[in-house]
Parts: sequence; C-alpha cells; structure tokens
Amino acid sequence: MSTAKVSPSILSADFVNMERDVRALAEWGADYVHCDVMDGVYVKNLTFGMPMIAAIKKISPLPLDVHLMITEPERYVEAFADAGADIITFHPDASRDPSAALDLIKNKGVKCGIVINPNVKLEDYIHLLEKCDVLLVMSVYAGLGGQKFIPETLETVRKGKAYIDKNRLPTLIEIDGGVGAGNAALCREAGVDIIVAGSAVYKAADPAAVIAALKG
Ligand code: DX5
Ligand code: ZN
Repeated sequence: MSTAKVSPSILSADFVNMERDVRALAEWGADYVHCDVMDGVYVKNLTFGMPMIAAIKKISPLPLDVHLMITEPERYVEAFADAGADIITFHPDASRDPSAALDLIKNKGVKCGIVINPNVKLEDYIHLLEKCDVLLVMSVYAGLGGQKFIPETLETVRKGKAYIDKNRLPTLIEIDGGVGAGNAALCREAGVDIIVAGSAVYKAADPAAVIAALKG
C-alpha cells in the first residue's frame, strides 16, 4: 500500500482567518487546498465562488483542488480555471454534458475530474474516466463538513481502481468526507491516492500529526 496525498478542506477553516489557515496547510505538510464550492441548488448549503478562489490563489503555496457542488458546472468551470483552480472536479449528475464540461476544463490546462455521490452509480459515468485526472469518491453526501464516513462507499473506490488499473489510466482516486486518522488506512488499502479531510485537520490539536497519519 502506498502513501496518500492530503487535501485539507477549508470548509472547516476559520473564515475570519482564511489567509492564516491556508498558509498553515503547507507548514503542516498538506499537498493541496480543497475548496468546497456549493450553490444552494445542487446541495442545500452555500459557500463561496470564484472571488474566494482568486483570493486564496494569491497567497497559497499549494495547488487548489476545487470541488464544485453546483448545478450545470459547465457554465462556470472556465471562470474557476481563470480564478486559479489547479484541479476542478464536479458532479456529473449535476451537468447536462459532463464530457463537454471535462473538455472545457482540460482546454484551460487545468486538471479535471468527476465526483460520485453515495447515491450515484459509478457505472453510469465510468466511461468518462478516460478523460479524468481525478476520480473523487464522496464518502458522505456532499453538502456539509463533519459528517460520518459511509464505509460502503469504499466499494466505489475499489470499482474505480479496478477500472483504472485494467485500462492503464493515470487517473488518481480521491476520497472526501468523514476521513480521519482512524479510517485513512482503509481508504489507502482500497486504492485512494488523495485524502480530503476538513474537520479532522482543522479541529485537531496537532494538525501536522493528523496529516502525517492520513498520508500513512
Ligand atoms: C462535503 C465536502 C467535504 C467536507 C469534508 O460536502 O465536500 O470536502 O468539507 O469535511 P469533513 O472531512 O469534515 O467530512
Ligand atoms: Zn469536498
């Protein structure tokens, strides 16, 4: 089992001290900054949009991993690329044409991927993996930080991993939701390459130690 990269979610950061909390991630040994964009339509919650990504980009030493929980992401992906996203993932069930949305991102020179919610069948979108740099598997229902990990979603990781290996794709598998030091090894064993963690990192007494544990 190889080690994983870690992408802490700023959803659990202190929004009053966003610059401090983004800069700290590099010091703590994180690999990416996970930015959760919610539109109040695809998911109930509302977070932030392109101006926040542009602001974080100015001060972040780490690449921005932007997770779009928005309806018709194809309308916004180019604007998020222009704002400074290094990876853009979106929910294909929210898109009218996920394949075209992936092309829009790729044509901007940004890494792209799809996100699979627990109630979405990977099989319905698996053919898109040829175009994806990242497959993001939700281990909770997208929409809120601090939820409990759903172990059954590791089956989606395994299915994705089998497909990626069989077709010799370079696609990385990312997992998001309810992951902490206690279940990170299960994720890595299933084939996860990148672990997202919000509350586990930002609510920790020693975030660097948690990030090291997530990496394995
Ligand atoms: C949920 C978000 C996650 C969330 C992770 O919709 O996509 O990135 O912030 O937070 P934790 O690690 O607290 O579950
Ligand atoms: Zn996320």
